Amino acid sequence: MSVLHKTLPVAEAIESRRSIRKFSSDPVPPEDLDEILRLTSLAPSAWNVQPWRIHVVTSSKLKQQLQEAAYGQPQVTAAPVVIVLVSDMEDVLAHPEEINHPGLSAVQKQRTVETLKNTFGPMSVEERGYWGLAQTNIALGFLLLAAQGLGYATVPMLGFDPAKVKALLALPEHVKIAAMVPLGDADERGHSHHRHKLERIVVRH
Ligand SMILES: Cc1cc2nc3c(=O)[nH]c(=O)nc-3n(C[C@H](O)[C@H](O)[C@H](O)COP(=O)(O)O)c2cc1C
Repeated sequence: MSVLHKTLPVAEAIESRRSIRKFSSDPVPPEDLDEILRLTSLAPSAWNVQPWRIHVVTSSKLKQQLQEAAYGQPQVTAAPVVIVLVSDMEDVLAHPEEINHPGLSAVQKQRTVETLKNTFGPMSVEERGYWGLAQTNIALGFLLLAAQGLGYATVPMLGFDPAKVKALLALPEHVKIAAMVPLGDADERGHSHHRHKLERIVVRH
């Protein structure tokens, strides 16, 4: 399957997406995977900090180890690709100039760097870690829908031991993991949506 052959309108991608835990063994063509990752990277974030970092796992051995860290959940090795989406605010702060839009003037660029320093400097590593995680969860939504829109199934997962996953991916302690996301061609339909009615969740003022 290729990107060129299958794309869904966003409403259809949202409607049809389900958590899928059984996958065919077909590999995901690299160009499709890259397009999913590119679309994910277009997610918005405050000050455009883009704290997400995306680990793409296709190694059978590493998937097996990740599955063990995920309490044996079978979808981790069933999927041809496992994406581990993480947030690294310390990496953001080590390279503050990276987030500046090229169209900004030198003064504006300097102002952004100062703002970042003044905002995040007084916070603890843990506090700003969770702040970055909130941004990264936006990218998680984009990832799930980008994959669905291009014909691929996913299941977002948080059922794992984060310390073990960090050790397997050589991630520093401060990094926050937004989700582990097995991805591939679906080999089941998944459950129909069960969601609150709008009256339960919407408050109109
Ligand atoms: C942050 C997050 C963590 C989740 N963790 C797991 C998990 O560890 N294992 C699993 O099988 N499903 C996991 N799920 C999937 C949810 O069970 C599923 O999204 C929910 O039941 C709604 O079903 P749907 O995705 O098919 O609409 C997770 C979902 C989210 C958003």
